[in-house]
Amino acid sequence: MSTTIATSPARPGSPARPGSPATTDLRATAASLVTGGRGILAADESPGTMSRRLEGVGVEPTEEHRRAYRELLVTGEGLAGRISGVILCDETLRQQLADGRPFPRALADAGLQAGIKVDTGTTALDGPDDGETLTEGLDGLAERVAEYVALGATFAKWRAVLHLGAGRPSVRALDANAEALARYARVCQDGGLVPIVEPEVLSAGGHRLEVCAAGTARTLATLGRALDAAGVDPAAMVLKPNMVTSGEGSRQPADPYEVARATVDTLRATMRPELAGVAFLSGGQSSETAAANLAAIRRRGGPWPLTFSFGRALVSPALAAWAGDPGRVDAGRSALRREVDRNVPAA
Ligand code: 13P
Repeated sequence: MSTTIATSPARPGSPARPGSPATTDLRATAASLVTGGRGILAADESPGTMSRRLEGVGVEPTEEHRRAYRELLVTGEGLAGRISGVILCDETLRQQLADGRPFPRALADAGLQAGIKVDTGTTALDGPDDGETLTEGLDGLAERVAEYVALGATFAKWRAVLHLGAGRPSVRALDANAEALARYARVCQDGGLVPIVEPEVLSAGGHRLEVCAAGTARTLATLGRALDAAGVDPAAMVLKPNMVTSGEGSRQPADPYEVARATVDTLRATMRPELAGVAFLSGGQSSETAAANLAAIRRRGGPWPLTFSFGRALVSPALAAWAGDPGRVDAGRSALRREVDRNVPAA
């Protein structure tokens, strides 16, 4: 099976602001997030989403339960050898562990970097029935970035959501989301945070892998142009894309070899080689499937470090194992550790 990518490769070029101390620091931070086989734990579900996930395992969705669950996630033994950083939401970044340490301090004590989700969620692009969305959060972003830096964050995340289907993603959705991602990334770099740039092409549907490849290629090509136009330094950012897979309802799911070939070829065709790294989202794949696909992607290789920034594929088993029982915190930590280990290559 071959994958045709109807886009031209990003032109090589130099970053907008090479050589300044701030740029050098951000590049070092970006590299430290993705090198050494370590990945990033995405634990940044909004309070609303986190509350629904707690209710799903029978836990009352209180602020304290959200806090206790995040404490479990970030306090496991030996995480720092496998995880470089943890993405938090605004609520958690301002909370404290039971011992009184703010989350960013506790993460730093454990050798982990603190990240912060700065988008404010999606809104309908063209009215409630349209189905396509635009991710918002640029209002007051520079001020919020300054506050997050003061609170101890070193990196940020913004997730755009693109849909596959007849005529989708539309040019309008591609352009609007790429523009917002690029502006976000530039504001973060100017304010001292490494941006994680997340354009997620959703896996909903029964489509073949080629459909996802084409939609992802259009998404990344549009994004690459917007990042260049905004003067974003590619060496001081991390790309967080979806893997190129068949649709989650597909009757003949693509195997890891096919996923790896399509994913890496799509990225090579659209993204600058200077990127600090690529850290994939899991996008609703099972823990086993996400890990197998990531291993195959790493075997295929690219000019960048290739690693994970999974949410559900890492934390769902931990949430189920804990289920709100203070006596099962260690069971939750063990489940997280098992999922993380699946995705870190053997030394
Ligand atoms: P998933 O790995 O569950 O897709 O989540 C990653 C993420 O950060 C979504 O924004």
